[in-house]
Amino acid sequence: VAQQFGPQRLSGQNVVVTAGGTQEPIDPVRYIGNRSSGKMGYAVAQAAVAMGANVIFISTRPELPVPAGLHKMIYVETAAQLQGTVSSVFEGADVVVMAAAVADFKPAQYVTHKIKKQPNTTEMQLTLDRTPDILATLGQQKTHQFLVGFAAETDDLLQHAQTKLAAKNVDLLVANDVSQHDRGFGVDQNAVTLLQPNAVPETLALADKSVIATQILERVAELLA
Ligand code: CTP
Ligand code: CA
Repeated sequence: VAQQFGPQRLSGQNVVVTAGGTQEPIDPVRYIGNRSSGKMGYAVAQAAVAMGANVIFISTRPELPVPAGLHKMIYVETAAQLQGTVSSVFEGADVVVMAAAVADFKPAQYVTHKIKKQPNTTEMQLTLDRTPDILATLGQQKTHQFLVGFAAETDDLLQHAQTKLAAKNVDLLVANDVSQHDRGFGVDQNAVTLLQPNAVPETLALADKSVIATQILERVAELLA
């Protein structure tokens, strides 16, 4: 009974999960990206399915195996596409987990042909524009949705994470130290701290991302109940 009850704690919940780093094109052959592998988001999507949720999964990583049992799989590349896709499914969502590493800046102009250098070219300047903050926008728009954000930090982890928790109006923030090589970006393990409004932060021990993902969603299920 415990095994059946435990894993089905998100039964009937519509959960939207985003994963991977966005890619912001410069020209047809180049883009601005980041070191996010998408593995944490994939682990969250898989754990949400295992807990009985209807999962809409939005990813920037078509080369990774599709998690089994999804309600819907959608691929995007850019922050703008991610925002459009997330907002189209937001109203029907009960939980949104923004594990994607959204680019903060994109090239101000997309050049439609491959940018060429000349023999005497020694430098090049690229002007970048801010992208929309998807999570902060959802935080302003939410009515009933439970919002989970992530914070990737190399310094002053808890302080920056607290600021993001409040500024983006999220219900649960997963703070991720990306300065250490055994956890976070690109690897299979992670150690995170969970922050909630008006609660003492809780640090989870270094573990496989699948274990961390389940712990995050167990907390979500508790807070929804
Ligand atoms: N995020 C987002 N849209 C953006 C940037 C970030 O939705 N344009 C979301 C991420 O998916 C994550 C959270 O905001 O859930 C925090 O992302 P992070 O990069 O850690 O923080 P930023 O607010 O972008 O601040 P900074 O990068 O300057 O630390
Ligand atoms: Ca950022």
